[in-house]
Amino acid sequence: MQILITGGAGFIGSHVVRKLVNTYSEYHIYNLDALTYAGNLENLKDIDKAPNYTFLKGDIVDAEFVKQIFEKYRFDGVIHLAAESHVDRSITDPLAFVHTNIIGTVNLLNAARDLWKEDFSNKRFYHVSTDEVYGSLGAEGLFTETTAYDPNSPYSASKASSDHFVRAYGETYGLPYVVSNCSNNYGPNHFPEKLIPLFINNIINNKPLPVYGDGKYTRDWLYVKDHADAIDLVFHKGSNHETYNIGGFNEWQNIDLVKLLCQQMDQKLGRSEGTSEKLITYVKDRPGHDLRYAIDASKINSELGWKPSVTFEEGLARTIDWYLENETWLNNVTSGDYQAYYEEMYS
Ligand code: NAD
Ligand code: DAU
Repeated sequence: MQILITGGAGFIGSHVVRKLVNTYSEYHIYNLDALTYAGNLENLKDIDKAPNYTFLKGDIVDAEFVKQIFEKYRFDGVIHLAAESHVDRSITDPLAFVHTNIIGTVNLLNAARDLWKEDFSNKRFYHVSTDEVYGSLGAEGLFTETTAYDPNSPYSASKASSDHFVRAYGETYGLPYVVSNCSNNYGPNHFPEKLIPLFINNIINNKPLPVYGDGKYTRDWLYVKDHADAIDLVFHKGSNHETYNIGGFNEWQNIDLVKLLCQQMDQKLGRSEGTSEKLITYVKDRPGHDLRYAIDASKINSELGWKPSVTFEEGLARTIDWYLENETWLNNVTSGDYQAYYEEMYS
């Protein structure tokens, strides 16, 4: 099996690449990544010499390049994670999200369809998506696989559009696909523009913790390695033309999560209790901010037997330990362009 993973140098993608390279020595894993600000080959330095792994630098928006690599390597399966992934950046620059998330996905779909069209058997296009396509929940309810799409940010609109294209290629051309829609991930290698790693970095550096609005927004958090396990399972055991929701059964209001993070960081840094909480600063809200996400993951649980393996407290502790032990990684990704981004977003 020749497997293409896109976005494998990013946060979730790097955990998926590692998992597949280490688990399936009989597969060859190709990691296609443009190495944008979010892509980092340091994330994969422990496996980059593996005989069943090849890195391909390239942009999924480049249709000709995508076509050429499909013809050259004749992939049997695709796990597509490459995306612009940060909601705040999508508010500043929506077109970047249209290019990568929509056009990039359609380029991959075209290349897969053209390579496989004579015989779709034993082929699979796996599109990794997000729960944000379902919009926002009120105080009650959960997102299921049949919840209507209702995206509110340019990011979620672009992901929703890409999901529709994948489904349409299944209906129109018979392309064998699976889609999963996952809740918020956290864990090692998370780029510090997202809530948890940004706040870990700011606590280490005694900088303010910018909580948007009243901090009462709710997210459902999943440890990234549990998501990688779920992706492996859906890729191998999921049914064609099906969607699987993946979530942590783990809802937290942002402010409660931030307080727990502050407590754990104070302990690990040997600071007195309450030190980090003093850094909490309420700032202007994100426009179009979705109130609550929460996943009903009962389908993947009952059909494929998946459930999260770590509690949030344990996953968060492991995550903090990783950042404290990988100071060079953190310093490297927060130098240069990150400073300009931070100034523009938070000044
Ligand atoms: P990320 O931003 O950390 O990584 C994205 C990767 O894609 C990077 O390595 C980047 O270099 C690469 N990339 C971006 N544009 C590209 C292009 N044009 N061509 C080739 N490569 C390109 O993202 P992530 O958080 O790891 O998310 C991965 C996927 O999972 C995304 O599709 C995202 O929508 C989805 N997802 C993320 C979460 C989450 O909480 N992070 C939750 C659910 C779903
Ligand atoms: O739900 C899945 C999605 O989760 C993924 O599809 C996205 O790729 C991923 O980025 C994430 O989106 P969110 O917008 O939920 O994640 P983020 O970490 O940006 O924000 C989490 C919550 O924290 C959200 O309510 C906004 C808030 N927040 C975020 C930042 C960066 C703050 O209060 N302050 C901040 O500085």
